[in-house]
Amino acid sequence: MSFKGQHILSVKQFDRDSITRVFDIARQMAPYAGRKKRTRVLDGAILGNLFFEPSTRTRVSFGCAFNLLGGEVRETTGMESSALSKGESLFDTARVISSYSDVIAMRHPQAGSVAEFAEGSRVPVLNGGDGANEHPTQALLDLFTIERELAASGLQIDGMHIAMVGDLKFGRTVHSLSKLLCLYRNIKLTLVSPAELAMPDDIVSSLTNAGHQLVISDKLEGHLNADIVYQTRIQEERFPSKADADQYRGKFRLNQEIYTRYCKSNTVIMHPLPRDSRMEANELDNDLNLNPNLAIFRQADNGVLVRMALFALTLGVENIVKDYECAVPWYSNK
Ligand code: NCD
Repeated sequence: MSFKGQHILSVKQFDRDSITRVFDIARQMAPYAGRKKRTRVLDGAILGNLFFEPSTRTRVSFGCAFNLLGGEVRETTGMESSALSKGESLFDTARVISSYSDVIAMRHPQAGSVAEFAEGSRVPVLNGGDGANEHPTQALLDLFTIERELAASGLQIDGMHIAMVGDLKFGRTVHSLSKLLCLYRNIKLTLVSPAELAMPDDIVSSLTNAGHQLVISDKLEGHLNADIVYQTRIQEERFPSKADADQYRGKFRLNQEIYTRYCKSNTVIMHPLPRDSRMEANELDNDLNLNPNLAIFRQADNGVLVRMALFALTLGVENIVKDYECAVPWYSNK
């Protein structure tokens, strides 16, 4: 796959070679993200960062990734502060913003909206989440994290055991991650959710067709001895009402006591974040914060590296990042 000038809308665009390429570039970004060095390779370039749904990590890490490559960020957040709320079409917004920008990152509550927007765009569009459909950059950073975390125990993605827990129906991160896992071999997947929030059938079929071993359950007990436990939040915003979401909150909690009792000593805990820390939910308890296998913040940090790599590749500068290096004059203890 050649990335230059391409939209990144779905994980279905990737094969194993292109994933390896993204991860190689992402690793090369570490000194810049760690403020050891600067690069101005994207000096003069503008990212249009359009977030029509709540976001902290994805929005800010797209912006930071672009800034760390030397580019500028212009941002709009929230539907109500955009002309979409005046009835403007995605096509028209895309036509205009793509003339102001060199690349666009976009999140929108409707499935398929980012692809529709991309049709009107003259610059590459990166999907930052379209409804319950896909979240390709998150899936790549999740996979990057899984590879890194497993390597510490001498394990690989091929042959691993991952348990995905929570809202597997509306969780776009588990949808995109599962589709990426179809490119790997001999994975054991345990899918734990309330029956009503089960992984969509088409994704289950793809995983089975990829030759993976699936266990589907509506109980957490007995399913935590995996290499990776990927916990998720009940996606309240996709339910008809808060009360509808409330009935599923707090069903599958993981805390240190449960971890000690049921997980392996090296089970890696992941979560795309935000974790819902309200008492009635609390799917990942704060008492895990000092557990060295809690990878959630390393996972979020990896988001910057992977998004830097995707910007470098789509704008065709991945091989010249070093040529634009300069010093970091400020104090940094990163
Ligand atoms: C996820 C999302 O928005 O899909 N968050 C993220 O991008 N890191 C998951 C969530 O909101 O629960």
